[in-house]
Amino acid sequence: TQTEALARIEAVADIRSLEDARVGILGKQGSLTKLSAGMRDVPKEEKAEVGQLLNAARQAITGALEGKKEALQSEADAKALAGIDLTLPARSLHTGSLHPLTLIRDEAVGILRRMGFALADGPEIEDEFHCFDALNTPADHPARNEKDTFYFDSGKLLRTHTSSVQVRTMEAEAPPIRIIAPGSAYRRDEIDATHLSVFNQLEGLYVDTDVSLGDLKGTLEYFFHELFGSATEVRFRPHFFPFTEPSFEIDVKLHAKGQAPKWIEVAGCGMVDPAVFDAIGASRNDDAYSPEKVTGFAFGMGLDRLAMIRWGIKDIRLLIENDTRFLKQFA
Ligand code: PHE
Repeated sequence: TQTEALARIEAVADIRSLEDARVGILGKQGSLTKLSAGMRDVPKEEKAEVGQLLNAARQAITGALEGKKEALQSEADAKALAGIDLTLPARSLHTGSLHPLTLIRDEAVGILRRMGFALADGPEIEDEFHCFDALNTPADHPARNEKDTFYFDSGKLLRTHTSSVQVRTMEAEAPPIRIIAPGSAYRRDEIDATHLSVFNQLEGLYVDTDVSLGDLKGTLEYFFHELFGSATEVRFRPHFFPFTEPSFEIDVKLHAKGQAPKWIEVAGCGMVDPAVFDAIGASRNDDAYSPEKVTGFAFGMGLDRLAMIRWGIKDIRLLIENDTRFLKQFA
């Protein structure tokens, strides 16, 4: 009967037995299904009344099944959540962030690309020709010493500067050239707070028919104003590099909080030495880079140093140690 069925549903303690009860009542062999089958034998005059009763019973039972199912479900949920404090703040995810060297490189590259410089690349394992000879660096120059440069038994070496990319680019492409080449460079330096044996440079080269010292100054002044702010003073100090003449070192005047402003060296630069163009001419076996036809300027800067200046990093070794306490500050 309906009362029995409802009592059975009420007594059920878990979802599995509830399903058994449902089948027992409403299933193919279920008690209510059997009763409904009995409709056949009910006299015609009573069919309407009996049918109504059966329908009412089915509705009451279905409703009871659903109600019980919901009750059991929320009971199970409550049990699962017991002991969990939903008001606790969520644990934060460990997300990565860009390394300061990547940030400063992308920024420098971005500024120079907007000025029309295209990216160029070259090998880190170089030969003496591309790293030194073609750059007018004589065989007895101290930079070529085994004490300063990593040599392989083959005579190849780890490039000591990205200036080798200048040579590679001019060998491969006719002027005009306007390229930048960010990348690693290697020197046999004693490691301390400002020196590593591998560091990062950004090289630039512009060669065309009428490139002047004014172009060099304007380009690099603009660059450092973009990078460090337009109020930054930039000065060009005469210097010497074998591959540029005249040559300069560039200083920017930094105003650090609570300190007297001071000049800091940030780059080397100069007008491409005609001897470099001559070496390129010999290598290309044409006169596309004849010093009669073209002039150019080149510059090179240390990205590690730019990052240290930008963020006041006191020890270059922090840039390679991957200490997350350090790296997290750039997220
Ligand atoms: N190659 C030089 C260095 O490593 C920098 C430089 C590049 C200077 C281009 C002049 C022109 O110190």
